[in-house]
Amino acid sequence: MPGKRSVTEASVKGRRVLVRVDFNVPQHPDGSVADDRRIVEALPTLKHLEAAGAKTILLSHLGRPDGRRDPKFSLRPVVHRLSALLGQPVPLADDIVGIHAIEGVTRLASGGFLMLENLRFHPGEESNDPAFAAQLARLGDLFVEEAFGAVHRAHASTVGVPKRLPSYAGLLVEKEIRALTPLVHGAEKPYVAMMGGAKVADKLPLLASFLGRVDTLLIGGALAFPFLAADGANLGATGVELGLEGVVQEFRDAARSAGTALQFPTDLVYEPADGGDGVVATGTDLPAGAKAFDIGPATRASFLKALAGSKTVFWNGPLGLAEDPRFAAGTREVLAGLAGIPGFHVSAGGDSARVAEALGVGGAFQFVSTGGGAALEFVQGAALPGLVVLPDA
Ligand code: ADP
Ligand code: 3PG
Ligand code: MG
Repeated sequence: MPGKRSVTEASVKGRRVLVRVDFNVPQHPDGSVADDRRIVEALPTLKHLEAAGAKTILLSHLGRPDGRRDPKFSLRPVVHRLSALLGQPVPLADDIVGIHAIEGVTRLASGGFLMLENLRFHPGEESNDPAFAAQLARLGDLFVEEAFGAVHRAHASTVGVPKRLPSYAGLLVEKEIRALTPLVHGAEKPYVAMMGGAKVADKLPLLASFLGRVDTLLIGGALAFPFLAADGANLGATGVELGLEGVVQEFRDAARSAGTALQFPTDLVYEPADGGDGVVATGTDLPAGAKAFDIGPATRASFLKALAGSKTVFWNGPLGLAEDPRFAAGTREVLAGLAGIPGFHVSAGGDSARVAEALGVGGAFQFVSTGGGAALEFVQGAALPGLVVLPDA
């Protein structure tokens, strides 16, 4: 996709700049920030605005409070971490378009920051209510989209506000577009996509979008089970998403006509009926009561063989139940091997990035998207409303 007009081209000195960020971060049970990557990745834009003398007003959602104020979803812990990272205290307005927000904006000095409370405390955010969007827009003179993780949402802050103000892409959004665009068109070949994860029905559109675009599609995780079952594998008591037999057959036919090679697990690691350690099945037939949770060593080797010849790799979805040490080896060993293969490797997906880091194999990737659903939709080639609304460079 074409580049977007950059925040670096905006004249911001002394002006009120509304910046939509995606600070929807994982939290500990006490609310404190468990992973600050989305905050850290927005810092270059925030530092740029600070140095340029902007009055920066930050907008974000956190979780899904469904249009009601709920202290569990307050941005307070986020602002705490942000203040530490920026090296200046960032006040949090206790509302979004009310008296606290208006007063806070009035008090803002050039080079200063204000964060508004969780956008999703207001029902107008997710419905893109015109009155709410207009109230938000009145708080600023310009808009900067820095919330890559939220650009697949057509909400007031991602579409309503940029429709009403001169708008620019933030540095993180630019970086994401630059890194992800080659996965949609112009990838250096051979191009291999490796998909895993749990919810098959959710991932089918992405899988289908790869046909004809990638040379090889490797399918692991629970995503592989309906395919194996359709081939007659006896998966014991494994949870297999039902009702996909027809879809699976169509998918194979489409892959054949598109010239995309499909690879599935040829062996599995399962939990025996009575629990205990993971056991390798040489093949895809399991004993009664067994549940498959990972790919086996032969599959790891064949996936790595396919990856070894590649120039571009896209990965989404763990190849097994990687949070359980008994079923982490598939994901860990394949990503450890991938780290030694030259090429451009990109990962996307909330759980995927977290799992790769936890297994110590995050270094397999040249780029890790901050987007979950947004990145997956982008890679599918979808038009994302929060990007469409921004002027091209
Ligand atoms: P992402 O959020 O990166 O898009 P998904 O939500 O699709 O990824 O997948 C995440 C989950 O899938 C992980 O927690 C992983 O452990 C799990 N997973 C992979 N294979 C299996 C399996 N066989 N059974 C259960 N969970 C699995
Ligand atoms: C994400 O974490 O994927 C984004 O912040 C979007 O959140 P949402 O799925 O609740 O819209
Ligand atoms: Mg997930």
